[in-house]
Amino acid sequence: MASDRLDVLVVGGGAREHALVRALRKSPRIGRLIGAPGNPGIEDDEVTAAIGAEDISALVAFVEREKIDLTVVGPEAPLVAGLADRLRDRGFAVFGPGADGARLEGSKAFAKEVMQAAGVPTGQAATFTDHRQARAYLQEQGAPVVVKADGLAAGKGVIVAQTMAEAEAALLECFVARSFGDAAKTVLMEEYLEGEEVSLLSIVSGHQILPLAPAQDYKRILDGDAGPNTGGMGSYSPVPAVDEELYERLVQEVVRPTVAELERRGIDFRGCLYAGLMLTGNGPKVLEFNCRFGDPETQALLPRLESDLLELLWAAARGEALPARAEWRRGAAVGVVMASRGYPASSSKGDVITGLDRIREADGAEVFHAATARTADGLLVTAGGRVLTVTGLGDTFAEARARAYAGVAQVRFEGEQHRSDIGRRAEEWEKRGGTAAAESPA
Ligand code: AMP
Ligand code: GLY
Repeated sequence: MASDRLDVLVVGGGAREHALVRALRKSPRIGRLIGAPGNPGIEDDEVTAAIGAEDISALVAFVEREKIDLTVVGPEAPLVAGLADRLRDRGFAVFGPGADGARLEGSKAFAKEVMQAAGVPTGQAATFTDHRQARAYLQEQGAPVVVKADGLAAGKGVIVAQTMAEAEAALLECFVARSFGDAAKTVLMEEYLEGEEVSLLSIVSGHQILPLAPAQDYKRILDGDAGPNTGGMGSYSPVPAVDEELYERLVQEVVRPTVAELERRGIDFRGCLYAGLMLTGNGPKVLEFNCRFGDPETQALLPRLESDLLELLWAAARGEALPARAEWRRGAAVGVVMASRGYPASSSKGDVITGLDRIREADGAEVFHAATARTADGLLVTAGGRVLTVTGLGDTFAEARARAYAGVAQVRFEGEQHRSDIGRRAEEWEKRGGTAAAESPA
């Protein structure tokens, strides 16, 4: 460090990483801020390095050459592949767990084992490496049931089977068609759970935790949660269903025991622990753990964060003390994902995007780029499925939604699709008399 400014590398190139970059820039201590590979939105704000998020050796070489003080890893794949370990071995600070902690996301069987050992509430599940045994179990259990590939499958390895036929087909995908490759060498069959889904992300520094505000993510492509699963079509925060008491319960019954169990196993987790929860009639249950910030939850969380994100990530990366609570802007945030034609089955590239310049932070809306690209003559075009997130901030859900959708209405590209109901239920709750700021923990 030449001064007390910190040079930061953010690994990844989605809207989550764009939101991380924006929040880090607000810190008085930020020095150089670089995205690898970044995207055109990050490039407009900061600088980017043309290194893929999964090119571990090139990332390590870059950190060494540029003497990066802090590396913040957005996506899971480089964490599971050991990027954080490689950097820590060389003495560099990293926000993101080593491969041992990243197994919480990289292996659903491992995550189950940790939850069972820690007494964390989760759906009942059994693990199989043999198609015949899995089918025999299915005959016993019946449908609905959830079939999950153990390993990373680019967000596609979970099949919620409503019927026996769907469950049989899912097992065929895993064991015979091998659609998920080695990720489905081991397969979990999990009890089907019903309820409201909530994401609770915590910054973890060894045995210390800083839980963030609860958020909700919309996984299906169409309004009313219809159509196929996607990488996430929108999010909002905070979540009316999570009052102070439930929030405390989630921290005490899920986050603390999980982190304690990791510690008991000698895992020094320094990063974001993401608990995907189902609020069932029998209490909250963990659906999954991720070892990183959620996308699109981050695009709704970070615009409301008033604490210095850089200080929090820097402390966690070095195993230092975290504050007991983060500070949040009052009110709500709603993030709407704009996707390209054909998503999620396919996606379209090269469609010209216009209108982004009409979205201004002064109007309470912000745009985070994901799959965008710049052509040689400087046009902004689509470059994949989830193209942008537009986040609206407001004192109420109604205001945050209105601002997000006013922003969305400014943006045009051929075949554009978005959901029109992001945050709607929170707004309805508010209309019935709920107050985001007063009743939510954060
Ligand atoms: P996951 O990647 O484990 O979060 O699964 C993706 C999505 O599948 C979740 O967000 C849920 O909507 C759904 N899901 C996962 N596990 C279950 C379960 N046990 N019961 C019902 N739905 C589930
Ligand atoms: N929002 C789901 C995820 O980040 O995995």
